Amino acid sequence: MIIWLTGGSSGLGMHTAQQLVKAGHIVVAGARSFHGDQQPGLFRLPLDVTDDAGAEAFAEQAMLLAGPPDALVQCAGILMLGSCEETRVDEYRRILETDFLGMVRMNSLVLPIMREKGKGRIIMFSSINGLLGIPFQSAYTAAKHAVEGYAECLSMECKPFGIEVCLIEPGDHRSGSDSYRYRSAGMTDASPYAAEFAKGTAVIHRDEQGGSDPDKLGRKIAKLLGRRHLPLRKRIASPDQRLAVALHRLLPGNLNSRILRSYYLGGKKTEAPAHSEGRNG
Ligand SMILES: NC(=O)c1ccc[n+]([C@@H]2O[C@H](COP(=O)([O-])OP(=O)(O)OC[C@H]3O[C@@H](n4cnc5c(N)ncnc54)[C@H](OP(=O)(O)O)[C@@H]3O)[C@@H](O)[C@H]2O)c1
Repeated sequence: MIIWLTGGSSGLGMHTAQQLVKAGHIVVAGARSFHGDQQPGLFRLPLDVTDDAGAEAFAEQAMLLAGPPDALVQCAGILMLGSCEETRVDEYRRILETDFLGMVRMNSLVLPIMREKGKGRIIMFSSINGLLGIPFQSAYTAAKHAVEGYAECLSMECKPFGIEVCLIEPGDHRSGSDSYRYRSAGMTDASPYAAEFAKGTAVIHRDEQGGSDPDKLGRKIAKLLGRRHLPLRKRIASPDQRLAVALHRLLPGNLNSRILRSYYLGGKKTEAPAHSEGRNG
């Protein structure tokens, strides 16, 4: 299979690309910068998913190098940590541009090719955060929720053309690089949210460090692509994260928020530090 893959320079994208090559596929991986050794069967091309011309150039070069894609695997993504109040609109825009519109842009390039062939597979990396929100990850959560809704629409529209869509919903994996976890500029020590932000982000960091094996996820994606049909959703998460998603569906909203708040922030409101009484003095 010829597979184009975004976000192939790091984290789950890189591990998935490697496992796909091991499974015998030809992979053209795109990212803004690559490090480390080349791998036979894995082509690397520059790609910025937020840039129309750059994405088109990637598609043209990928066509020349490998040919039309049987599958597109979209892993490129970045994260912004910050309170809803203090994350600026341009910071939200940056996350949405990469995590949501980047996927839309890449899909619009491969859909005509796949439609013409009468078949194709589009795999998009969502997240457990595409299904539920957690404190201080609102931009990422919003982007992944957008991906979830968009993918449902896409799967229905392109079914007559033989194109299948699959959302990968990973829980925490110990793969992501901290260089893609941005902190909102407003999150200074003077923020009224500073104490809870510190608690919440420590839990987020701990969970990711202790997360699942990224190669195992890569192998699951390779296995998925060997199936006759793709599921619309494939959750790759620990039992407790699966339980969190199930409870989110079943429990009343306020109760669910209380449970998640307690997990990340420890229940009661943490007192803001004395110096955080208003950022302007
Ligand atoms: N790690 C986890 O626990 C976890 C959990 C749930 C979901 N996910 C999802 O899995 C995917 C990979 O995340 P990760 O944490 O494993 O990886 P990561 O280490 O954070 O890597 C992010 C990748 O995205 C690429 N990227 C960022 N901006 C880009 C842009 N504008 N154009 C092209 N590529 C871009 C980066 O490459 P360049 O900087 O070289 O461009 C890099 O290859 C993401 O969609 C993430 O939301 C991860």
